[in-house]
Amino acid sequence: MLATALQYSHTLLQEILQPGEIAVDATMGNGHDTAFLAELVGRTGHVYAFDVQELALNNTAKRLAETPELAKRVSLIPAGHETLDQHLPADCSIKAAIFNLGYLPQSDKAVITLPETTRQALDALLLRLAPRGRVILVCYYGHVGGAEELASVRDYCRALPQKEYNVLNYQFINQQNQPPILFCIEKKR
Ligand SMILES: C[S@@+](CC[C@H](N)C(=O)[O-])C[C@H]1O[C@@H](n2cnc3c(N)ncnc32)[C@H](O)[C@@H]1O
Repeated sequence: MLATALQYSHTLLQEILQPGEIAVDATMGNGHDTAFLAELVGRTGHVYAFDVQELALNNTAKRLAETPELAKRVSLIPAGHETLDQHLPADCSIKAAIFNLGYLPQSDKAVITLPETTRQALDALLLRLAPRGRVILVCYYGHVGGAEELASVRDYCRALPQKEYNVLNYQFINQQNQPPILFCIEKKR
């Protein structure tokens, strides 16, 4: 079977992220991606994970506490990804970042990621992205505001210069349930 967008996002991360490198989970939620990134960066790497909801931070902290070795590799940042500039050194080289855009499952659907702040975070990430580094966005868009954010992300990705970035769009086009749509921005050098 073809990989879902979520499965494929992990393949794209796994292909490039090496022990000792730095990664960002821009939307930690329940911490699935945070834990996955923490495995990949190994003992000498580090993961910076962002979320605006206390519930997300608590759920992620609980997940990481199950494997204390992983918890040591992660900074849980109680702030929006648009503040990335304030939390990561300007000269840090980020090898991989992931966004799961939308709302926290089984939670308040009013707290959603937003086009403008997502763009701000992307600007800050691309400035720090390592050669061959990847930024992955998995866009859920079935909720109110989701379609606008998807359009904004698509426009942002389309406008990136081909000389500097490869941009991939992965989506199923015959499904009725609005499965998530993936974008991957790869820095060429
Ligand atoms: C689809 S969920 C993420 C799921 C997560 N990747 C996981 O493994 O469970 C989206 C998350 O983005 C968070 N969020 C909303 N606005 C944000 C912002 N400006 N910065 C960081 N996170 C934000 C929400 O609180 C929510 O937890």
